[in-house]
Amino acid sequence: MTSDVSQQTSSDKPFSLVVLISGGGSNLQSIINACENGQIPATIKAVISNKNDAFGLERAKKASIPALVLKHQDFTSRESFDLALAALIDQYQPDLLVLAGFMRILSPSFVERYLGRLINIHPSLLPLYPGLNTHQRALDADDKFHGASVHFVTPELDAGPVIIQGIIPVADNDNIQSLADKVLTKVEHLIYPQAITWIATQRITLNDRIVYLDNEPLPVSGYQIHY
Ligand code: GAR
Repeated sequence: MTSDVSQQTSSDKPFSLVVLISGGGSNLQSIINACENGQIPATIKAVISNKNDAFGLERAKKASIPALVLKHQDFTSRESFDLALAALIDQYQPDLLVLAGFMRILSPSFVERYLGRLINIHPSLLPLYPGLNTHQRALDADDKFHGASVHFVTPELDAGPVIIQGIIPVADNDNIQSLADKVLTKVEHLIYPQAITWIATQRITLNDRIVYLDNEPLPVSGYQIHY
């Protein structure tokens, strides 16, 4: 009898993640770093991209994490892609499924399958600006503050219960690029490892669309940090 224990090491931790990406994977890198330095007590079992040229795949390989590609163009419908994606994910039995710049809308049946153990990071202070072009929309609205949110994924786009938000001031001379850079590096790379750590250590629970931190209900904005 053979069993694939070759990739298991004594450093494997019990809480496991699968990360889905579509692009650069800088959030993935912050999660890899936080797993490696012990902030997040978890193991990334696999990184899956729907694009074969996503740079995040190189980041995964460099960290010796299985880096897999499932191209959505190879499927005739959203549902058939999502079914194949779920089959791939389930091979790794992750405790938590982490969307890190995964730029695909997921079908309701996929979301239902992972409800409560599927999280996303979004570059706005939800419920402001679900969808795309969030930095442009914050500038157009002359917002004084902007940031990012980590939330549980529900079938409605970018509308699931928020776990944590990181907030930065918008400077008078900010443009889309400067704001995007600040949100990514000064907010997202901090709040995503924090949220995952809380979930891995069972400090976060979700009940009836309310997020609890240490058994205390959080406001709809989640736990807010000003940077
Ligand atoms: C991040 O800004 C993330 O919030 C955003 O894509 C970027 C991915 O960057 N996600 C969404 O807009 C999802 N709606 P990364 O690949 O460098 O982590």
